[in-house]
Amino acid sequence: MAHKEPENLIKMRKNIVAGNWKMNTTVEEGVELASEVNDLLKGKKANCEVVVCVPFTHLVPVHGVIDEGVMGLGAENCSEHDKGAYTGEVSASMVKSTGASHVILGHSERRQYFGENNAQLLAKTKQALANGLTPIFCVGEVLEERENGSYNDVVKGQVEALFELSPEDFSKIIIAYEPVWAIGTGKTATADQAQDMHAHIRKVIEDKYGKEIADNTSILYGGSCKPSNAKELFAKPDVDGGLIGGAALKADSFMGIIEAFD
Ligand code: 13P
Repeated sequence: MAHKEPENLIKMRKNIVAGNWKMNTTVEEGVELASEVNDLLKGKKANCEVVVCVPFTHLVPVHGVIDEGVMGLGAENCSEHDKGAYTGEVSASMVKSTGASHVILGHSERRQYFGENNAQLLAKTKQALANGLTPIFCVGEVLEERENGSYNDVVKGQVEALFELSPEDFSKIIIAYEPVWAIGTGKTATADQAQDMHAHIRKVIEDKYGKEIADNTSILYGGSCKPSNAKELFAKPDVDGGLIGGAALKADSFMGIIEAFD
């Protein structure tokens, strides 16, 4: 008889590795990178879901070179408005119409450089959900908050910004914990620091939405994640994958992180 694991040990939530290309690559370079990753993934079934989040200009051409079921496609932002006179903005329905399935919201670079606040991020999240996009909602403390010990409260507040959502809507969200001091700095959070924060985030979700939704929420780690540290981070019980910046810009390093789930 096949060995059956006790129910509470079966992990229902998805493992996900998502790339965030940020403001990098021309369309031509992006198409080449995406097709390279797509081809490598086709040759070898990944043990996690793979998504690439790309600049708006790249969505349609990248969608044209990736295979459904092999990898997903996302934007890096969307407007909090539905449509209309908002020059330069891109709505969630426009993103959806490119064939994208995901959208990163609340990245620390958006919060820091473009002043995005909790109210706007809730509105963006609602737009994304109303248009059938899966938000990858980023949270994370800055160095000063890590050092003064307020990081758990800071991140709790960022997650709570979404607590107006119905349980059904909240259950569609992916959370990405990205300590700002670890982004692009080469200074990764230790696997234990990541695990502690992910467990904290899951508890915050559980207190509001209950254990089932909390257990089913994928919580990704982001911040200087690379092939050499991904395995240790992803081995932690509450770390369900990664949101990858710099290392997603080369097919071999992105694949190296995906393979941490082998
Ligand atoms: P790096 O992997 O370059 O540190 O960036 C992480 C990030 O911001 C992903 O959204």
